[in-house]
Amino acid sequence: MGSYVPSRRLTNSDLEKLVETSDEWITSRTGIKERRICGENEAASDMAVAAAQRALESSGLKPEDIDLLLVGTVTPDFRLPSQACMVQKKLGMVNAAAMDIVAACAGFLHGLATADAYIKAGQFKRVMVIGVEKLSSITDYTDRNTCVLFGDGAGAAVVVASDEERGIISTFLKSDGRYGELLWIPDGGTERPLQSLNGQGRVYLEMNGSEVFKHAVRQMVEASEKVIKEAGLTPADVTLMVPHQANIRIIQSTAKRLAISMEKVYLNIDKVGNTSSASVPIALDEVIKSGRVKRDDIILMTAFGGGLTWASALIKW
Ligand code: ACO
Repeated sequence: MGSYVPSRRLTNSDLEKLVETSDEWITSRTGIKERRICGENEAASDMAVAAAQRALESSGLKPEDIDLLLVGTVTPDFRLPSQACMVQKKLGMVNAAAMDIVAACAGFLHGLATADAYIKAGQFKRVMVIGVEKLSSITDYTDRNTCVLFGDGAGAAVVVASDEERGIISTFLKSDGRYGELLWIPDGGTERPLQSLNGQGRVYLEMNGSEVFKHAVRQMVEASEKVIKEAGLTPADVTLMVPHQANIRIIQSTAKRLAISMEKVYLNIDKVGNTSSASVPIALDEVIKSGRVKRDDIILMTAFGGGLTWASALIKW
């Protein structure tokens, strides 16, 4: 694993100067105290490369050893070429196929499940999965409903074929496109292209927060129950839960319904906010580097995001 967050901090008191909000409201409703924001010349691919280099270093592999690169993101540097191709170029990952996965906050877990499936099918042997977001580039800093939530960052994992019985045990992916408008960017795509909008488009992320909240808890619980059951385990067997860091109250409700105590849940939402695709891999990297994870630990990861999309994965460390 490897991860990277920009050095620039955006605190709740900074946001109090931008919109009508308060540290008390943000902290009690979301659990977020600050988030990291890219510097002026920092692109999403720069963060992805930094996280990838750290992951390669910890795996002992070189860029040319990777045969598939999957990048989960909704904030690529360019619409074309893909973020994965940009990252491939910057890393010199010359032997890899590269493609993006657009599944919002569930993007990294979609990548992990895809890596697992390709490896089990025998098509690829060493896969890098990255989750990266520069959400500050699609955030409206005059909208208090969204701007207090989001931050920038990247996390990366190297997944390799192995005969050991540890690693990815089970994964579950699901989406429901009927609810896409609960969390979306309405304009600037091919349905309402920018040229047709005379500069008036709604090009920032918009969200119906309370509706998304309800779906998030229900679906992350169901997805988690599925991966635990498929592995022949029970929630009591989970040593550590690494959830998508969207809102402390969503995490608490999800853990409670799964009967997993909050002592088993890793949290960094206070420091990084919601980094969408990057959220789970940043948290997983941090908790591993902290020394808290021991051999044979059962780690449950779960995420939910725009699409709507959701996913869970269970790994044995
Ligand atoms: N400061 C002060 N007041 C605020 C703020 C703010 N920053 N934001 C909203 N409010 C107000 C609202 O205007 C509303 O006021 P009203 O009652 O006068 O209309 C009131 O607070 C309550 O608003 P709710 O939406 O009911 O607040 P809620 O408790 O649902 O919290 C939140 C809002 C934090 C957005 C929550 O709904 C949430 O976390 N939703 C899920 C987010 C998520 O998981 N997204 C998915 C991933 S993101 C991705 O895929 C990129």
